Amino acid sequence: MFQESAALKRVRPSATLAMTQKTRELKRQGRDVLGLSAGEPDFDTPENIKEAAIRAIREGKTKYTDVDGVPELKQAIADKYERENGLHYKPGQVNVSPGGKAVIFNALMATCSPGDEVITPAPFWTSYPEMVLLAGGEPVRAPTTQENGYRLTPEALEAAITARTRWLILNSPNNPSGAVYTPEDLRALADVLARHPRVWVLTDDMYEHIIYDGMTFTSFVQAAPEMYDRTLTMNGVSKAYAMTGWRIGYAAGPEPLIAAMRKVEGQSTSNPSSIAQYAALEALTGPQDFIPERARVFEGRRDLVLSMLNQASGLSCAKPEGAFYVYPSLAPLIGKKTPAGRVIEDDETFVTELLESEDVAAVHGSAFGLGPNFRISYATSEDVLEEACRRIQRFCASLV
Ligand SMILES: Cc1ncc(COP(=O)(O)O)c(C=O)c1O
Repeated sequence: MFQESAALKRVRPSATLAMTQKTRELKRQGRDVLGLSAGEPDFDTPENIKEAAIRAIREGKTKYTDVDGVPELKQAIADKYERENGLHYKPGQVNVSPGGKAVIFNALMATCSPGDEVITPAPFWTSYPEMVLLAGGEPVRAPTTQENGYRLTPEALEAAITARTRWLILNSPNNPSGAVYTPEDLRALADVLARHPRVWVLTDDMYEHIIYDGMTFTSFVQAAPEMYDRTLTMNGVSKAYAMTGWRIGYAAGPEPLIAAMRKVEGQSTSNPSSIAQYAALEALTGPQDFIPERARVFEGRRDLVLSMLNQASGLSCAKPEGAFYVYPSLAPLIGKKTPAGRVIEDDETFVTELLESEDVAAVHGSAFGLGPNFRISYATSEDVLEEACRRIQRFCASLV
């Protein structure tokens, strides 16, 4: 009889991927489902990047590469950190893995021993705690509040730290809340960490370039330079360059950590795709002007969705400052009934009933560790968003 491993038994499947899969199935059955569950830009990968990949194939760059990335790409990543974040890393301090997800996974596999705790401020990207569990560690949820803009406070951080804490995972702009940490927020967290030298920081800067209202992005070490020797600064090309399918993520940090991550990568995936690495090299060294242009498009969509959802009865939505998600609270709707008599018991029944009655696919907040909320991604056209928000408004109004 088939048996899952003990490690896998502790892990939940990805709710985001499950909802995206369900949307595809319903569409195949002919239903007019509006899928707002997937976290990927609807834009295409720019032509110059595609051309670089085709060139790499033609030039025969189709063999195994160095495990954690080709030297040209590592140099380009070090240059990116210098140029955009004012952070100094040598190419030997850089890791390239098959996607941002793999970077985080490799870091956790390389560092978590049984019982080690990893703090994830909630709401969090749904994969962090599950990856911690796979790596043998223990995820620790540090709650935030809507009043605080879903940002971790120094008090909540202090309360979550124990003698077993190994990592704090910070994510700004945040998936799913859209919260962006200011330099002062980061400084205050670093002051807490100064008292806990065993705790390292993994800063997930994946949405760095998708930021609104004239805010500037600050990476953790920029605000707290003394944390350089215990921070992994992670990023990737998936969101900024619309390259989710290419699977390239990267990070920079202290050499011993990077070497340990290389050991994990070397015994699991080996190198990321050689072709995708040359595409990422072009992404990081080619024209960058389309990035802020796309961010402005996302900002317009954010404004549309925010205003329409805040008009839906029972929903309240904090203003996202970055990324491409909104995360409305639906607390007043808990306990209400659909016209068919089904009770909205929690955010999971809310998204199930929303899909059933209005063909709108969203993801329930409990998958992100804080609810009752739900997440929709606005990385899709304004027409689809307007129609989806109208359906959500109608669904909320129908609850009694
Ligand atoms: C916060 C965050 N970090 C990391 C990732 C992983 O990105 P990648 O597709 O490069 O694995 C995602 C993807 O959704 C994300 O939302």
